[in-house]
Amino acid sequence: MKKTSQKSKKSQATWGGRFSQAPSELMLKFGESVSFDSALAQFDIQGSTAHAKMLADVGIISKKECADIVAGLQKILKKIEAGEFEWNEALEDVHMNIEQALTKEVPAAAKLHTARSRNDQVATDMRLFFKSATVEIILKLKNLLSNLLDLAEKNINVYIPGYTHLQRAQPVSVAHHILAWCEMLYRDVERFQFVYDGANVSPLGSGAIAGTTLPIDRAISARYMGFVDETDTPVVTGNSMDAVADRDVFFEFAFACATMAVHFSRIAEDVIIWNSSEFGFVRLPDTFTTGSSLMPQKKNPDSFELMRGKSARMIGNLNTLMLLVKGLPLTYNRDLQEDKPPVFDSFKQACMCLDVLSACSVDIEFNKQKCAEAVSDPLLLATDLADYFVMQGVPFRNAHHMVGAIVALSEKTGVPINELADEEIFAICPNAKKDWRSVFNLERAFEMRKGIGMPNLKLIAKQIENFRDLI
Ligand code: ARG
Repeated sequence: MKKTSQKSKKSQATWGGRFSQAPSELMLKFGESVSFDSALAQFDIQGSTAHAKMLADVGIISKKECADIVAGLQKILKKIEAGEFEWNEALEDVHMNIEQALTKEVPAAAKLHTARSRNDQVATDMRLFFKSATVEIILKLKNLLSNLLDLAEKNINVYIPGYTHLQRAQPVSVAHHILAWCEMLYRDVERFQFVYDGANVSPLGSGAIAGTTLPIDRAISARYMGFVDETDTPVVTGNSMDAVADRDVFFEFAFACATMAVHFSRIAEDVIIWNSSEFGFVRLPDTFTTGSSLMPQKKNPDSFELMRGKSARMIGNLNTLMLLVKGLPLTYNRDLQEDKPPVFDSFKQACMCLDVLSACSVDIEFNKQKCAEAVSDPLLLATDLADYFVMQGVPFRNAHHMVGAIVALSEKTGVPINELADEEIFAICPNAKKDWRSVFNLERAFEMRKGIGMPNLKLIAKQIENFRDLI
């Protein structure tokens, strides 16, 4: 009996006209997206407001109807922001929830969806989201960069070994190392600016797939939403089919997040290594480390390990998005509803990583003594000795070979390379002069590295200044 009555229940959905039955409970649960796309509410309302104003401007709805719709949307936004709006999963998504709530208050709301489909609506909402999210991330990145520059400045005279293959390679300074991170992170700033530009195009007016027969003006709604270029000209998508099928900006955003996350991961790994007892270069703040439930002596760099771990998640989100879209026929397919959770997750995780790294970078302390001990290894200047031989007229390949022999001798005799006897050096490199030992001086090593991008102290100070101007 119950079944029959359910079967005869006519669909109440907005699209229910041609249906004689309502969707099953299971389908509603399976198909809803409001549990995650309610995050788009402010952008949905911004888009609807622009759409209503455009409809009024071209005379499809009256000024009064537009004013009622806009006021009603504002009321709903306030309710949502106050946490008083009741989201209903049976209404599927954020668009339907807001439209239905509006219709209850404002009769003219029945005209809001004129010349619009949820396909161009959701594409519009997401582009507005990406513009807002990239601006937020760029701000956080600049704040992080500013903290890192402070840290670099504070430690401008602290020298440490630089590593390749995690073997001591050549001396650098803490500031030079941190400036390397800044380069990575500034490329992230530029990458998110690129994502912003890609998102800054209005798809609204593309309808479900082939636009509309109604005399709308896409440039007007684009302008209302701020989809304008640097000359203040509205920018709209060029093909109605691509506009509702395209998810490239999703990829670009997720890629920018994933790349930034890989940078965080590498920075985190540097810090984790520096924080180990074996290195002891840094002391991490208590506030971002944790202890062990079993071993009382432990102070673990969990914040950095999590940063390293979260990069996997963000790379996964990019992967999910590309797999989702791969092989979909044009244009919209419901699969595309699954495009939001990975995007929102990457955004949230990216923001948290930025906040955590910013906070940690204020309180990281370098252990000057441990750094000095590590960087006093004279082998770090073996390449400088080869350069010295080159200056005495020895071809670099030969000089490299000679220094190799000197290192082997030092290893064999246990005498540090800079304490070998002059005769031993002259026997290997007849061109060497009495002053060969002057090479083993860090000040000299940095002073002589004068080229752009090298760890010369003056250059580093300049670089810090340049970065400050840039952000
Ligand atoms: N919630 C949907 C999504 O995110 C909105 C578009 C629905 N369009 C449709 N034809 N069913 O993709």
